[in-house]
Amino acid sequence: SLHIVRTVADLRAVVSAWHREGLRVALVPTMGALHDGHMSLVKAGLDRADRVIVTLFVNPKQFNNPRDLDLYPRTETEDALKLSEAGAHVLFAPGIDEMYPHGFSTRVIVEGVSEGLCGAYRPGHFEGVATVVSKLLLQAGADCAIFGEKDYQQLLIIKRLVRDLDIPVEIVGSATIREEDGLAMSSRNQRLSPEARNIAPVLHREMVLAAQTIRSGEPVAEALAKAAEKIVAQGYDKVEYLEMRGAETLAPLDTFGEPARLLAAAWLDDVRLIDNIAV
Ligand code: PAJ
Repeated sequence: SLHIVRTVADLRAVVSAWHREGLRVALVPTMGALHDGHMSLVKAGLDRADRVIVTLFVNPKQFNNPRDLDLYPRTETEDALKLSEAGAHVLFAPGIDEMYPHGFSTRVIVEGVSEGLCGAYRPGHFEGVATVVSKLLLQAGADCAIFGEKDYQQLLIIKRLVRDLDIPVEIVGSATIREEDGLAMSSRNQRLSPEARNIAPVLHREMVLAAQTIRSGEPVAEALAKAAEKIVAQGYDKVEYLEMRGAETLAPLDTFGEPARLLAAAWLDDVRLIDNIAV
């Protein structure tokens, strides 16, 4: 049965006891409003470890837009029920004062891989993510931690900071879970009107088509410009970015050749949606 933990001290006590028994522990950090994408990470954790801890903390430091923080869904009771049914062992849901007590002054900044893409459009966002994820990893002391490829730049930032700060945990990336029409699952999808929800899968569809034309030799800049135009022509308000980058480092790539990734952010119905795929 699912055990709900609110303090770092209790979390450490639980994990120490498991480690004394020789059990392997997986951590799945989330901001709640759990959907099948999150639940796939819980399953990946259960496959790799004997015990799974899911964290639920809506981290104010990573919301560059106060309206986005206000609108963020908070559904702890439903989340706990889903986790219990899925077989997760602990839900770590600390209050704000447990994570950021009075006097908190530290920021974790990861250079390079945080720059560009979402980093260019959401000032402070990745600093907030890197800070809270560093804390969660150090608080839990799990053997592995699972993150979704849905947030691809975030995943690479976390891999980088774990290496740079010698945090003893294995970071595992897990594939993006999509709706049947290709739309990547996201808690923000709930904010789309029914009309916008019908338009939403256009982003992924045009990314898949652009990747095909790039693989077949079309110049990258042309393929991406055409795709962005088609996304807007089909009802998106704006494509914030649509870029091809190196899949390991996110270094800019002008021509196709090495392992590459397409990454995009676009606005629809006042909602910012992101997606990424392998080329
Ligand atoms: P959140 O958006 O709740 O996502 C939690 C985890 O679920 C992340 O690793 C994210 O990549 C993954 N995820 C979200 N949608 C997914 C999908 N459709 N398929 C597969 N995985 C998906 O990302 C965060 O929270 C926060 O930034 C966090 C890392 C918890 C730090 O606050």
